[in-house]
Amino acid sequence: MQKRKLSDLYSNWDQLVDNAASWEGRTLKQLFSEDANRSARYSVAAAGLELDFSKNHIDEQTLALLLDAAKQADLQGAIKRLFRGDHVNNTEDRPALHSALRYTGEASNEEEKCVEATLTKMAGLIESVHSGEWKGFKGDKITDVVNIGIGGSDLGPRMVTKALTPFHTGHVNVHFIANVDGAEIYDLTQKLNPATTLFLIASKSFSTLETLENSLSARKWMLDNDCGENQLCHHFVAISSKVDKAVEFGIDADNVYPLWDWVGGRYSLWSAIGMPIAFAVGMDNFNKLRAGANAMDTHFAEAPLEKNIPVLMGLIIFWYSNFLGTDTQAILPYACHLQLLPAYLQQLEMESNGKSVTKDGARVDYQTGSIVWGSEGTNGQHSFHQLLHQGTTMVPTDFIATLQAHHPIDHQHKYLFANCVAQSQALMSGRDLETTEAELRANGVSEEEIQKLAEHKVHPGNHPSNTILMDKLTPETLGALIAAYEQKVYTLGTLWNINSYDQWGVELGKLLGTHIANAIDTTDIPGDWDSSTQTLVRKFNEANKSL
Ligand code: F6P
Repeated sequence: MQKRKLSDLYSNWDQLVDNAASWEGRTLKQLFSEDANRSARYSVAAAGLELDFSKNHIDEQTLALLLDAAKQADLQGAIKRLFRGDHVNNTEDRPALHSALRYTGEASNEEEKCVEATLTKMAGLIESVHSGEWKGFKGDKITDVVNIGIGGSDLGPRMVTKALTPFHTGHVNVHFIANVDGAEIYDLTQKLNPATTLFLIASKSFSTLETLENSLSARKWMLDNDCGENQLCHHFVAISSKVDKAVEFGIDADNVYPLWDWVGGRYSLWSAIGMPIAFAVGMDNFNKLRAGANAMDTHFAEAPLEKNIPVLMGLIIFWYSNFLGTDTQAILPYACHLQLLPAYLQQLEMESNGKSVTKDGARVDYQTGSIVWGSEGTNGQHSFHQLLHQGTTMVPTDFIATLQAHHPIDHQHKYLFANCVAQSQALMSGRDLETTEAELRANGVSEEEIQKLAEHKVHPGNHPSNTILMDKLTPETLGALIAAYEQKVYTLGTLWNINSYDQWGVELGKLLGTHIANAIDTTDIPGDWDSSTQTLVRKFNEANKSL
């Protein structure tokens, strides 16, 4: 089969390639010394966020060429089609209407009305649990809420709940269980009181192995601890697009909150899947989170491409991945409350854009989704930043920083911010041999030592980064930040002509997992399996045969 080339899609391909070649020997440092206005020229603000993309290998011509490519990909049309509810998820023949989950004002269409009804019901539940009106099987107030879900039914709610720690109301403790590893639920339940625990079973499909197994274990734990079958309804709530399956599982129909097939799992934190967030921070803050995302959606829909934050974020990664040869991106939030953002964005970006066929099923000969990784600053500085500064790979990096903290320890916030800015500055400017030698000399180091050490201390620099700035991490700015990344993903999917909203690549592993579990149960290992798989299964059976 002939592979699809990006050069077939873009008539200015050769110019983009030439522009990429022109960066050989040019440095970011030079660009700043040539243009005192560079930072202002390459910064855009919207929805409480500011994107400073000036420390990138981009000049006016690069930007013009990239914007031209976006027009050739009909990005503006694609944005309209997304918000209008066209079936942009073509392989599943569905819209991707997560924007409807964060509508503001009056619900104006069928989807928004479904969302409104669900959020109203959810607000009632949150209020009743927070106030103590909702009682456990012994008549006690609920103290702990445990979300059981995985992937999109876990990472978003978990990340946001942590990110909004300063907004926690303290009414209940919120916990998350995802892994099929029984150790996770076992360890947690050791610390909980069944009489005061409420489980949320979050699963769009209500057929995910991990979630069902953990839910069965939670159910058993309740029953083993004196909760009657008929009292389970005080302790289990479900969120799913398969309401009938949740009811069949034993969840009271009244306790099932719907989700719809026009919401992708990894885009669902704004729906009832976000219930743990609302339990932690209250419904008002949950709605502010939705409003922040809505403000970013409006910006994405209305701002011109050259002033559009998600579009620029997407174009920058398109540029590095397809013209400057990078294959990973680092996410470095300088806010410990955003600790889980890199893991959340791994699913968002890699499950969405880790594809190798175009929307119409042709194989691609170009790079699509890149590897997303990172951790919170300053911790990363004392581990992997070494590679960013002196390694051989170029990694486009997003620094995320807040101007103000929620805590009163000002001097620590100053150091946090200073380190964030210093990292992007050091990556960009580096320190050449001459400067390194001069600094060593000024510090009284002998010439012999200088010859030995100088080369090791050189920082090549010229490493690109964005800085995303906000006044404070609030529900509104967090909502805007997440939506910016969601729409960046769609921008990239459009530029690569792939479907960002399906995830067929997760299927095979799930299927084989079931086959292998069956082989363990029946000790019947198919002889046509490869020898490695057969041996591994045999070893497991051997180790567990007396159990
Ligand atoms: O295995 C991948 C996946 O299907 C994700 O896309 C999804 O977010 C996750 O599993 C959980 O799915 P569900 O919400 O249906 O349990």
